[in-house]
Amino acid sequence: MILTQAIPSVRKTVARWRRERRTVAFVPTMGAIHEGHLSLVRQARRSAQRVVVSIFVNPLQFGPGEDLARYPRPAARDARLLKEAAVHLLWRPRANHLYPEGHRTRVRVSGLSEVLEGATRPGHFEGVTTVVTQLLNVVQPDVLWLGQKDAQQARILEQLVTDLDLPVEVRRGATVREADGLALSSRNAYLSGEARRQAVALVRGLETARRLLREGERSGARLRAAIRRVWRAYPAVREDYVAVVDADTLRPVRDVRGPVLVAVAARIARVRLIDNLEWSPR
Ligand code: PAJ
Repeated sequence: MILTQAIPSVRKTVARWRRERRTVAFVPTMGAIHEGHLSLVRQARRSAQRVVVSIFVNPLQFGPGEDLARYPRPAARDARLLKEAAVHLLWRPRANHLYPEGHRTRVRVSGLSEVLEGATRPGHFEGVTTVVTQLLNVVQPDVLWLGQKDAQQARILEQLVTDLDLPVEVRRGATVREADGLALSSRNAYLSGEARRQAVALVRGLETARRLLREGERSGARLRAAIRRVWRAYPAVREDYVAVVDADTLRPVRDVRGPVLVAVAARIARVRLIDNLEWSPR
């Protein structure tokens, strides 16, 4: 595995692969690598001949008072896990290389970025779309791999690629979960004891919603009420939102007719967790 910080060295390596007619898949991350990231890496390996992973805790996507400073950064462990997963190039850009003095450009996908996560975290998705545009410009991969865990992020980045005619295919990997269903997240490391036990509330609520959808429930309001009823058994859970939205437009759905995203966010002992499911009537 090649390990580098420098933008020109990433460009040079990928350019060489291109001359050799190799296809390239890219998995952007913020590190604290877990099985969710590694499953994207494995799918990336099957989708292309070379796999590039980036690790960058992107300051632009953290709001004031968020966990930028304490976000976990286990650099040596991350490099070992990615090497074992047979990643070809690990790129850990430096903030002052991506954003040198005088960097002013921001990329914003309007309409999709202000709702759900964007409502609670103003500016978050502008930070995500700006950095991913920049990372894509350096790596220029054939395939970009994103996790369903962050469904809104994936939807926004798909729109970005479409709108800017970026020559990359976007693919989503399914959410990887713990044995009890909790979606893997670097932030789960902040959970302990009772908070960790109650964190399954998110997935338990979504499981109920999925069962109701299968049984024919089509009312967005009743689906949301059902999730909130499940959550009553978990007193530590503080709802941020429970939403049933169109999977494409992310606008609230009154009656489920097409593909929907059921998205939830909650705080447990000050740790903010999100989860979702996508479902389509057939
Ligand atoms: P990060 O949270 O490190 O996630 C990197 C990728 O892993 C994202 O595409 C995310 O959706 C995916 N992922 C995280 N947990 C997952 C899980 N349990 N199952 C499947 N996939 C999972 O998302 C980001 O970083 C950043 O916003 C980034 C896109 C890198 C831009 O800074």
